[in-house]
Parts: sequence; C-alpha cells; structure tokens
Amino acid sequence: MTILVLGGTGFIGPRVIRRLVERGEEVVCLDLNPNTASFAGMEDHVKVIRGDVTQFEDVMKAVVQSKPERLINLAYKLGGPDDDPHFAIRLNILGMDNCFEAARLGEVKRVVYASSLAVNGQQKDYGDRLINEDDPMTGTSQYARCKIFNEFQADQYIKHHGMSITGIRPANVNGPDKVRGSVDHVQCITNPARGEAIHFPFRSVMRLPIHVEDISEVFTRVLMSDSPHHSIYNSGGTPISIGDLAKMVKEFLPDAQITFADEGGLEESGNYLVDNSRLLGEFELEYAPFRDRVREVINDIRREEGLPLVA
Ligand SMILES: NC(=O)c1ccc[n+]([C@@H]2O[C@H](COP(=O)([O-])OP(=O)(O)OC[C@H]3O[C@@H](n4cnc5c(N)ncnc54)[C@H](O)[C@@H]3O)[C@@H](O)[C@H]2O)c1
Repeated sequence: MTILVLGGTGFIGPRVIRRLVERGEEVVCLDLNPNTASFAGMEDHVKVIRGDVTQFEDVMKAVVQSKPERLINLAYKLGGPDDDPHFAIRLNILGMDNCFEAARLGEVKRVVYASSLAVNGQQKDYGDRLINEDDPMTGTSQYARCKIFNEFQADQYIKHHGMSITGIRPANVNGPDKVRGSVDHVQCITNPARGEAIHFPFRSVMRLPIHVEDISEVFTRVLMSDSPHHSIYNSGGTPISIGDLAKMVKEFLPDAQITFADEGGLEESGNYLVDNSRLLGEFELEYAPFRDRVREVINDIRREEGLPLVA
C-alpha cells in the first residue's frame, strides 16, 4: 500500500519511512526541504517531493496523485523563539488542518499525527504523580497550545466525519542527529562523546527521553494498525535529571566534562511522570533500556568522529 509521509525528511521521519519500506510499503514523502535526508537503497520504494503543508493545494495534490491508504504528518515548527505567531499558526494549525482536510477529501483510511508531551505543561501543575491521556492539558507555550488545538481539531474530524485519526504525544526524543526542540538531554551525551565540554544551567531539571528509534517504531505501529482503541497516546520515556544523565555518560566516558551552574531546577521541570501503559499494552511495545541507548548515541557520534567506541 502507499503511505504519504508529510514532513518526512527531518529527525523522526526518515526512521519511520525506513520501517515502512522494511514492511513492504511504498512511501511518498512530502517535505519543504526534500534533500535533507538520504533514502539510499530504498529509491525504488520512496518518492520524495517538495511541498508545503501550509499550501492546501500542495497537500491535496500529493493525496490525489499518490492515493495513499494512510497518511502521517510530522511537519511542524520545532524549537526557536515564540516570536512569530503568524508563522507558527500557519505551519502548526493550518498545516495540520490541511493534512486532515486533504485526507478527508481523499478518503484516506488512517491518519496519524504528532502531538507532544508539551501539552501537559509543568510537572508541578499536577503534583508528584503520573499523568495519563485523560488529565487536563496545562501547557502554555505557543508550541503546546498549537498541539492542544491539533488534538481538538482531530477530534472534530473524528466526530463529524468518522475519520480514523490518531495522535502520539512523543516525550523528549533523543538521538545523535537531533538539532531542534529539547536538546539539552542530547548534548549531555553528544558533546562528551566528541570530547567537548558542556555546561548546563541546572543539575536537577528533569527530562523524559525516548530514543528516536523507539518513537519511530511507535509511529509506525500506530500508523499501520487498522483500528487503534484510542485517539491519543502518550509515548512516555525514561524520567531522568540532566545531572543523573551526566553520571550515566561518565560511566562510559569517565573524563567527560559536564558542569552545572546551579544544583536546582526540579521545580521548573516540564511533565516527566507519564503513564504510557495505554500505548505499550495495546501495541505490545517495549523500549530498549535507556542506558543502552545512551551508549548507542555515544558510539554513533564516536564512529562519525573516528574515535574509539565505548564498551
Ligand atoms: N523531536 C522531538 O523531541 C519531538 C517531541 C515531541 C513531539 N515531536 C513532534 O514530532 C514531529 C516530528 O518531529 P521531528 O523531530 O522529526 O521534527 P523535524 O523538525 O526534524 O522535522 C520536521 C520536518 O518538517 C518539515 N517541514 C517544516 N515545515 C514544513 C512545511 N511547511 N511543509 C512541509 N514540510 C515542512 C521540515 O523540513 C522537517 O523535515 C513534530 O510534529 C514534532 O512537534 C517531536
């Protein structure tokens, strides 16, 4: 079957596409930056086209021409300042709606989109407890508010048009090539792996990392499922402070230079206690131990740099 992947040449998209091809699917990938990913060895099964999700005609044309059975939208404004609300709304709200509407008109059987852990705001909003998908969403950033609206809009299409649309709320995605969004938990691994020092403002600030291969497997399984039981799923991850992550990195790289300006930060942490039992149970998922993923990221970087690998 044909799958349309929108925003597929970024950080997560190419890993989802690789999985889809391995499962025998044909992929059409639309992205504003079509040349930022390589699909070497998969050319016969992946067609990359340049297109802009903020332009309804681009998305509709891709749907009409590729006739996808399933569609996933990963195109979004990630990171950077919140100082351009017009651009954010066009890409995050209008762009997402263009995908939903084109999927409706094209009678696409399954639609999956990326929401985010950010919808949940600060951990202190909830107290010291796990948050599940039914908790109220307290996120206040531009990014969080856009994701909250995307979830509302998906529900509208489900309710009024009977569409099958599923959102995933990825936690803090970690991987060697991540450059946008939350990057402190990435740089805490990648800088020392290169032999570079790194300095952070807070030691106790918490993150909820999930490796990019694990979240790509989540997106793929949910996209390929015919009838998920729910319309939204938390990915969850491994709750860890940047200080404890630094300790883990030092187990592999004892000379790593990771320093902190302040011991605190816990109170300022985003939501990091997340119940992902709905997702893991229904899709029989098990993430690799995070410590193994840390070693993997260190070695990905060291291989790139021609440095000896860690055991
Ligand atoms: N990476 C994370 O930690 C994380 C965490 C939570 C949620 N998410 C969500 O997952 C999704 C994918 O994240 P990612 O890390 O792969 O992001 P990314 O920025 O690496 O990839 C997004 C892709 O969208 C493309 N794009 C941007 N504007 C476009 C437009 N107008 N038209 C078409 N394509 C456009 C970009 O060129 C890029 O290839 C996003 O919705 C993001 O909000 C990511």
